[in-house]
Amino acid sequence: MDEPDAMGSGRAYAPLSHIPAHVAIIMDGNGRWAQARGLNRAAGHRAGTENLRRVLPAVVEFGIPILTIYAFSTENWGRPQAEVRLLLGLIERMLDSETQELHRNGVQIRHIGRTSGLPPRIVAKIHEAEELTRHNERLILNVAFNYGGRAEIVDAVRAIVAEGIPPEEIDEKTIGAHLTTGGLPDPDLIIRTGGDQRLSNFLIWQAAYSEFYVTPTYWPDFDRDELYKALLAYAGRERRFGRLKPARK
Ligand code: FPP
Repeated sequence: MDEPDAMGSGRAYAPLSHIPAHVAIIMDGNGRWAQARGLNRAAGHRAGTENLRRVLPAVVEFGIPILTIYAFSTENWGRPQAEVRLLLGLIERMLDSETQELHRNGVQIRHIGRTSGLPPRIVAKIHEAEELTRHNERLILNVAFNYGGRAEIVDAVRAIVAEGIPPEEIDEKTIGAHLTTGGLPDPDLIIRTGGDQRLSNFLIWQAAYSEFYVTPTYWPDFDRDELYKALLAYAGRERRFGRLKPARK
């Protein structure tokens, strides 16, 4: 993680005029990446997990302060049992093998998503990683695991009702503050690998004004060069937030 060049091409890039404060990634295409190589889907998910280790240093190198990754959706429980077990195993192994390294590199790990339904052993490891890294400031890494945007909004509404907040006091800020990303800015840029042009229940509230970037590249092949291309596209976008004039120059 310390030496991005050791993992990427090492190529220097032209400076970017704007760096998003918050990037979110839908890491899609692991299965198709494997299929294209005559491998099974498990191999694709393993390669996808491995790829995270390449991309994280690049995220830090480009100066992105917040990254949210979509690792497992509330809908992914509907996949074959063996694949669900594999994905749970990969997150557990990732927590076991990477937490210390991420901590040393100043990464703050946060879980977004429901803990209910996850094996208690994994929940305990998530809490440990969060606790260990909570004061780190170099990169906030939100791991969306057992995450669904609609479920998140349902949970926020439940919490607001449970707190007894009067209806007339509820506004967009109240809802935003009760989401799992409460306190963080909305994503400026959402990247989806694998070519599909949809949000798939990812950050559906927070994405209201996010820029969307889709690349056909499958997640295991999405590297430092690909991230730079996405950031370059973002830097060229004009963000108006519903107004006529761009919000930045
Ligand atoms: C989508 O590919 C990817 C997922 C459902 C899981 C993403 C998980 C990882 C990259 C690894 C686990 C993450 C962590 C944090 C350890 P797909 O299976 O839908 O691909 P396909 O559309 O080609 O079938």
